[in-house]
Amino acid sequence: MAAREAIDRLCAVVPDFPSPGIMFRDLTPVFSDASAFRTVVDAVAAPFAGSFDAVAGVEARGFLLAAAVAYATGTGVVTVRKAGKLPRAVLRESYDLEYGQASLEIHQSDLPAGARVLVLDDVLATGGTLVAACALLERAGAVVAGCGVVLELGDLGGRASLAGRHVAALETV
Ligand code: PRP
Repeated sequence: MAAREAIDRLCAVVPDFPSPGIMFRDLTPVFSDASAFRTVVDAVAAPFAGSFDAVAGVEARGFLLAAAVAYATGTGVVTVRKAGKLPRAVLRESYDLEYGQASLEIHQSDLPAGARVLVLDDVLATGGTLVAACALLERAGAVVAGCGVVLELGDLGGRASLAGRHVAALETV
């Protein structure tokens, strides 16, 4: 099963979640299907093969992709978390979501300086989340190898906000 076919078949579109007017793309049925998950994990990493030493996952669904890609590629995994979750010294960036505002944090010292990091998340919408994640990783001394997502919401400007970065989406809607 190709990645796009799996996404088209299994991704749930939920109107008015988490607030009125938002069409929420829920990829959890893609992740819970064994064949679809393997296909999507392999496909999301493929454009970046050989270009990264570590994988960063953005809370929460990005964690699932990042851990699986790190395991499959023999690399380590770093968590980019919502504010207040990490116990040691952190770096923080605030960002705008499609709906609301939030902050992301990483531990200052989870990566060696110069590590090439692939940043993974489930959805690229406005790009605020991935822009903040990339900024955090670079502030920590890492090199962002690129950003991989399963779904890109094409009319929300996310790709433009990540201009100059290697961004790959398995499907754009
Ligand atoms: C969703 C999604 C991305 C982000 C994309 O996360 O998982 O992380 O929004 O939006 P953006 O490109 O406009 O920044 P959400 O805030 O729903 O968090 P969750 O994964 O913890 O549920």
